[in-house]
Amino acid sequence: MNIIKVTSFIFGCAFAFFVTQSAQGSDVPQFPAGDSNPPVTSAQTSGASGRAFPPLGPLPPAAIPAYNPQTRAKIDLGKKLYFDPRLSGNNWISCATCHNPSLGFADGLPRMLGGPTSKEGGRNSPTIINCAYNEFQFWDGRAATLEEQALGPIQNPNEMFETLDNVVRKLSGIPDYVTAFKEVFGTGVTADGIAMAIAAFERTIVFANSPFDRYMQGDVNAMSESAKRGMELFNAKAECIKCHNGPNFTDNKFHNIGVPADGPLKEDLGRYSVTKNDADKGAFKTPTLRNITESAPYMHNGFFPTLFEVVQFYNGGGGRSENKSPDIHALNLTGQEVNDLIEFMKALTGELVQITYDATPLVYPNLPKGF
Ligand code: HEC
Ligand code: HEC
Repeated sequence: MNIIKVTSFIFGCAFAFFVTQSAQGSDVPQFPAGDSNPPVTSAQTSGASGRAFPPLGPLPPAAIPAYNPQTRAKIDLGKKLYFDPRLSGNNWISCATCHNPSLGFADGLPRMLGGPTSKEGGRNSPTIINCAYNEFQFWDGRAATLEEQALGPIQNPNEMFETLDNVVRKLSGIPDYVTAFKEVFGTGVTADGIAMAIAAFERTIVFANSPFDRYMQGDVNAMSESAKRGMELFNAKAECIKCHNGPNFTDNKFHNIGVPADGPLKEDLGRYSVTKNDADKGAFKTPTLRNITESAPYMHNGFFPTLFEVVQFYNGGGGRSENKSPDIHALNLTGQEVNDLIEFMKALTGELVQITYDATPLVYPNLPKGF
């Protein structure tokens, strides 16, 4: 493990420690006027195949499941839990350690470091930005909902290595939590409540109003000429639209693009481990490209440090794999075109309008005996 990794890991932990939970401002997703009705454009077609794809455009409001409605008190509770290292076995790792707001809600590392010895895992911590829009969670899509996802990392021996029973026990000894669970769910602290509250908080991490969004809403000066050319390429010659489509720049499907193995895993079978379908070997979820400048390094194993390397990889026809998607092939982009595509991706960085943090250190009040 090199020094950069160590530094950003420590930074991540420190951040999780000091950023606390008080919610201010409006926590419920807000969209700039007009965003709830994205302009209706005809489906974009990729020059090469003529297939139609869902058009790029501003995000609609995220769908909220009927069984877990957003309320201010629930979002506040979810935010406390998200930043609380007491959800881990050594009271040191929170969700924000690996999904850190100042690192694009990721961790800046190729692959996560977790567990009691900060061991390197096999996969990159994805950003949770706009995860409310995901049809599947995880690189292999093994969880469908955020509620289902949230209790996984707490119990994973390589992440937060804690038992649900023990988290419930710890939090039940903290009067603020007991009051909050009573108010939100009418119960004591429960694992289900933890999952619902964290999911509600995550659904507020929506980034919108990027230069691209403003451009699509009619502000012709919002994107540079280079970014505009990049958008053309994205939709046609470079064929990115085949998989990175719709308002969140993902088809919510799984593809093998041939990213080389890297890190502790010799081989990562990706989606295959969920479906056992041979066609899914080495296939991973198409990630969103919104705010992509903030969540380097890239791919399921963090193989590429920069967007330049990512675009060069696609330009050269992706990696080698028996199972590679037929939609990945050499693109013959010029140097200028590579730059234009990168400029377009930079224009996808939006702003989080709905949450703010204060810097009050986390307090550990009234810990139960044996804590
Ligand atoms: C030690 C680092 C670590 C911690 C702590 C951690 N995560 Fe993650 N998270 C990851 C990694 C790595 C993945 C991808 C794993 C995979 O795909 O198999 C992931 C995936 C996710 C995803 C899916 C995102 C997507 O686009 O597929 C969500 C949502 C998420 N984590 C939320 C959380 C929450 C909530 C917590 C706290 C309860 C948490 N994580 C704690 C590393 C971490
Ligand atoms: C065949 C579908 C497909 C096409 C076409 C495609 N992508 Fe991807 N993209 C993916 C998948 C799947 C991943 C994740 C792969 C992995 O981790 O193994 C990905 C990952 C990425 C990432 C890294 C995201 C992250 O969070 O790590 C970037 C950036 C990206 N693609 C940009 C592009 C650009 C630019 C183009 C066009 C030149 C393009 N993609 C074309 C499917 C595709």
